[in-house]
Amino acid sequence: MKIPPPIKSMVAMFALLWVYLQTSVLKAQAVIAIETQNNALVLEVEKDKDLGIIYFGKKLARVDEYQLVPKVFKQPEDYTGLLNSAYTPSGSRNLMEPALSVTHADGNNSLDLRYVDHKQSNVADGVSLLSITLKDPVYDFEVMLFYKSYFKQDVVEQWSVIKHREKGEVILQKYASANLHLKAGSYWLNQYHGDWAKEMQPEEAKLTHGIKTLDSKLGTRANLFQPSVFMISLDKPATEDEGSVLYGALQYSGNFKIDLEVDLQDNLRIIGGINNYASSYSLKPGEEFITPAFLYTFSDKGKGDASRKLQSWARNYKLLDGNGNRLTLLNNWEATYFDFNENKLAELLKDTKKLGVDMFLLDDGWFANKYPRNDDRAGLGDWQENKQKLPNGIASLVKEAEANGVKFGIWIEPEMVNPKSELYEKHPDWVVKQAKRDEYYFRNQLVLDLANPKVQNFVYGVVDDLFTKNPDLAYIKWDCNAVIYNAHSAYLKNQSHFYIEYMRGLNNVLKKIRAKYPKVPMMLCSGGGGRVDYGALQYFTEYWPSDNTDPLERIFIQWEYSYFYPAIASSNHVTDWGKQPIKFRTDVAMMGKLGFDIVVSKLPENDLKFCQEAIKTYNDFKDVIWHGDQYRLSNPRENSVASILYVDEEKTSGVMFNYLVNNRYGESTKNPIKLKGLDPARKYKLREVNLYPGTSSWIDSNRVYSGEFLMKVGFNPEVTSGRTSVVVHIEEVK
Ligand code: DGJ
Repeated sequence: MKIPPPIKSMVAMFALLWVYLQTSVLKAQAVIAIETQNNALVLEVEKDKDLGIIYFGKKLARVDEYQLVPKVFKQPEDYTGLLNSAYTPSGSRNLMEPALSVTHADGNNSLDLRYVDHKQSNVADGVSLLSITLKDPVYDFEVMLFYKSYFKQDVVEQWSVIKHREKGEVILQKYASANLHLKAGSYWLNQYHGDWAKEMQPEEAKLTHGIKTLDSKLGTRANLFQPSVFMISLDKPATEDEGSVLYGALQYSGNFKIDLEVDLQDNLRIIGGINNYASSYSLKPGEEFITPAFLYTFSDKGKGDASRKLQSWARNYKLLDGNGNRLTLLNNWEATYFDFNENKLAELLKDTKKLGVDMFLLDDGWFANKYPRNDDRAGLGDWQENKQKLPNGIASLVKEAEANGVKFGIWIEPEMVNPKSELYEKHPDWVVKQAKRDEYYFRNQLVLDLANPKVQNFVYGVVDDLFTKNPDLAYIKWDCNAVIYNAHSAYLKNQSHFYIEYMRGLNNVLKKIRAKYPKVPMMLCSGGGGRVDYGALQYFTEYWPSDNTDPLERIFIQWEYSYFYPAIASSNHVTDWGKQPIKFRTDVAMMGKLGFDIVVSKLPENDLKFCQEAIKTYNDFKDVIWHGDQYRLSNPRENSVASILYVDEEKTSGVMFNYLVNNRYGESTKNPIKLKGLDPARKYKLREVNLYPGTSSWIDSNRVYSGEFLMKVGFNPEVTSGRTSVVVHIEEVK
């Protein structure tokens, strides 16, 4: 049929209009933006329903402009259509590191994931949850991506839930929590490595093409050599106050794997999750596999802003009782090690009172009878009071503490066992080991098989018994000293599930403890900082950063932790490590939750007097340290003086800590240190506190400064070789 020209052009016009309308409708639906106060992660449903990331960074005012972003980058061909995938499947078109890799019930290894739908909802004030469903067009296989975003803190927690309805088990070969995709000129990775007494050693380098992996295969104490926390600076290394930087971490205490891949288009793919090492997972039809959350925040104002956001998020949403109080304490570990008895402890309880702290913490060595815990070679697992050391049991100590007006806390390491123990004799099948191979020990001990529900009950019972018998017990220090060798569970049928089931078991126990004892403070310790992560910190009020309490070392270690964790969670003890005077040691320990682990009765008179006064001073301003904003003013890695400031939310008071970290001749605060976080228009007075008896301050406490002066010109705390540690209290003058 011949169509007359005017009609022809009308049809063409309508056709054009239809296409335009369709595209704009599609486009309007196609963009899913996860926006927080300052940032946006923008996803796009692309033409074949692939879900891609088109933007990550500072939020744009006009949402419709996010779709223009990919167009202004002139990059080489993708070849896969998946390089920017929001959750990269493997075995179909993908050529890069996948987020998810599976073997289907029929043995096929291919996976494709297409967008189906999404839901966005407010789950609390300032907290939104986005879920996106992706499905394989060929197999009955589904992934739900979850993005929980915290508006004010610019934090996102991302995880995935994997399930299927195939005719048999599907093997998950890799199952990441999150998959990010960033565009920048260059990427600078700040990562950490460590060992016992050497936690949180930073290293920064430019990422080159290919994959850089951060991982752990230690099972327990997983962060001993490398934690999952890291930073990525875009274009150039971020500084404290400048630059674009992403912080990432997996909320998980077990094996993790973070792959950072710069691809052929020069973009960066970050894929983080449980380490799939020796851990392919057989998923039954209908069963859900829920990954732990991967956490990230981003700032274009440098590391300081990013860390304040993360610290605020942790206090408000993750750390147990993050906005609450903490107990100052005297610990006996370094004062006595395993060598104590009731009389000695009675003296220490008196010392606790004399010192002026809230609580006495009894450490390792109080338990086991057949194989007494007199050193670290025996007794672990036998959680009965040692009759020789404590004939009247813990109960009498709790009472004695009460009589002294202090609280009582106790150390446990319930996940572990010495081969020389009754527990091991009774339940050899509860122990992680390879029956046909020689046992191999870490600190003379082995790990209990928390994959086994009976072991979970036992571990829960250790805590529950202590509280049932001693309802006034005020605190637990939960230690974890061994890594997993010879990974094998006598309970599990499928050994590839071991590492995952261990962590599920640990999680079950901690959840059960918190259901019954929701607020009792617990310290997360792992032979130092071998297990500091937000997966665990939701159950703990604080962590033990390191057995290295040399204050000079601690300035560096605590500095690095502070990028990711708030001061209220950092248990810092004054000990005899290091060569610094007691004042220096105490000042450093004050930058968090203060404790002591010294022989109080042997302190010279003035040292004792100093400590007693220091605790009172700390009690006056601990609220600012615990709940205020932290500003790192002078980096000990770059300067001879380290300086850190805590300011309250109202900007009315603060505490500034300053330390000489270089003992070369003449090193001192030659220049003023610029303060941060104050109100430029307000006036402040600065007074030196924590002075050692008989010394006087060099600082004129009557001088009044404007916030502007303190922040633009700075303040000189007058740190010298004769004043190696100076604490300054800042108060607004009305
Ligand atoms: C390792 C911890 O880090 C120390 O503080 C102490 O509790 C010992 N374990 C006890 O064995």
